[in-house]
Amino acid sequence: MTYHRPAGETYGGIAPTEERGRGTDRRDDDRRRGDRRSGDGPLDYETVSVPVLVIGAGAAGARTAIELAERGVESLVVGKRDHGDAHTTWAAGGINGSLGSLDPDDDWTIHAADTLKEGHFLNDPVAVETVTKAMPDRLRELDEWGTNFDKTDEGRINQRYFGAQSFRRTAFVGDRTGEAILDALVAKARSLDVPYRENVMVTDLLSDGQRVYGAVAVDLTDGRFVLFAADSVVVAAGGFSALYGRHSSRDDENTADGPALAYEAGADLMDLEFVQFHPTGMVGNRYGEEWSGRLVTEAVRGEGGRLYNADGERFMERYSPDQMELDARDVVARAIAREVREGRGTENGGVYLDISHRDADYVRERLPKMVERFASLGVDITEEAVEIAPTAHYTMGGVDIDWTTGETRVEGLYAVGESAAGVHGANRLGGNSLAETVAMAPVVGRHVAERDPEAPDLGDADPADADFPSGMVAYAERAMGALADLEAADGDTRPAELIADLRKLMDDHAGIIRDGDSLREGLADLRLLRDRTAEVRVVGDRTGEDFELALDLAFMLTLAEGLLRGALVREESRGAHFRTDYPEKSPAWRRNILFRRGDTGMDHFTREVAAPSPEVQKALDAGYELDYHHLE
Ligand code: FUM
Repeated sequence: MTYHRPAGETYGGIAPTEERGRGTDRRDDDRRRGDRRSGDGPLDYETVSVPVLVIGAGAAGARTAIELAERGVESLVVGKRDHGDAHTTWAAGGINGSLGSLDPDDDWTIHAADTLKEGHFLNDPVAVETVTKAMPDRLRELDEWGTNFDKTDEGRINQRYFGAQSFRRTAFVGDRTGEAILDALVAKARSLDVPYRENVMVTDLLSDGQRVYGAVAVDLTDGRFVLFAADSVVVAAGGFSALYGRHSSRDDENTADGPALAYEAGADLMDLEFVQFHPTGMVGNRYGEEWSGRLVTEAVRGEGGRLYNADGERFMERYSPDQMELDARDVVARAIAREVREGRGTENGGVYLDISHRDADYVRERLPKMVERFASLGVDITEEAVEIAPTAHYTMGGVDIDWTTGETRVEGLYAVGESAAGVHGANRLGGNSLAETVAMAPVVGRHVAERDPEAPDLGDADPADADFPSGMVAYAERAMGALADLEAADGDTRPAELIADLRKLMDDHAGIIRDGDSLREGLADLRLLRDRTAEVRVVGDRTGEDFELALDLAFMLTLAEGLLRGALVREESRGAHFRTDYPEKSPAWRRNILFRRGDTGMDHFTREVAAPSPEVQKALDAGYELDYHHLE
């Protein structure tokens, strides 16, 4: 955890070099000296040694741990919140897999082709094949484990339309699909005795840049530091959409923990400029700020919901006459943003989403949570339209992994789920995020199991037996010293204020529509904001909100910089990244932009994307696409 990369410190702090670079502060100096202070006393911390540490207790983390357990490998899952309360519960409308329950022509190659088209061919073809091939089996498995998907009259898993998909491919449990999946995964993990630790926040990974050795964490219940020693570490801690003021997750989720931890440990980050703005988030001015940006599931449009501007026009007829409201999310979100910008939005800054033309009982059956949530706000969606506007929902970018294994360039360090990059390219199909978690996690679990991981011996019984590098213990203690200093930070700016300013900066400079001048200004403002972190004030102790927000801020600053820089480097418009100064897609930019931690900060480089396999190319050539008129 650091607001500024510690100048002169190498990975793991094993071999200090002369100080260089900018941005040191008091905490960094302490880290180099290896001070062991916790208030006035010596450092007090717990040590836990496990074969595999899984960071993140949502669907990706749970499914990885299940795979490991089934292969006889012990892991420990740590989550920031209570067991079963992860962001997965907010994924509502469904999960994709080419079961062909209603449309028998569908198959995995067409699912892959849709995913590549929606990702504007920036996706890793191996990633896309891995996910789309696996999904039919993964859906059946989830159903067996208790997800209890909606069924057709013939007893097959039912599937609904979702945006930009050629067939009905999205399996669902009303509009609480993520919750039902996580419940089933948690129950399965419990049945396999997978150990969980709740309310534990990982702050640093232990790495020498070549190999990972574990992590440092804070138990948010009692404030105690924890040193986790592990053979392998799986980062399944979500993405970074909460960098924005209007976002669909809860404020303390998707705060960049996973990608930032992996990056600081030596992994590369990729595609950070691609942020999915979901077209339909709740409008705070209409429903109250606590609801601002929260998701109105795509299932509303998948079940026939229509969008109208304040003049009563069904404006998607102008932007996408063939696919209408079910065109790709980036297309619909930009259309709404334009309607509002050009004065055809509601007085609250949104447009209307209406499903009242459908039978009320059908709406209640298919969208029970939406009906209930809006009813609690005095709105009956079976009778009237709701006000919505785009909201930051998902980050396509994240940690660069080898999609045949899930491993990063750091040995033993893996990433899975929204923390990882590759499968979605420049934009994601609705329903593919849950799919990615359960399709890739077994691949990661299998590969980790093949390493035959064992819990490192810390030498507690006999120091001669220790197989955990002593340099890593020293590094962990320096990290804890920095955390203790953060707890004592007595400047004059609370972390919540800095996070609010960061979110405004990202809304203003890296939103749905961008340009070079604004991105450059954003980067300059980010430097000023980073300087202000030297004056942070943490009220309360390590169990308090300020301390956690101060940690979030450190993660968020790293990803904000990568996002702004990636968006500036990418001189074209593609998928979710739209620049007014480069409004066209450029074939020369069919490349991923990657960031690696360098000696003086973030270094970037680009990489060409591989071609799809002949099977998938055949499906692309066949030109399948959604026939929206089925929904009319
Ligand atoms: O709108 C939704 O229900 C979101 C689903 C997704 O992002 O996959």
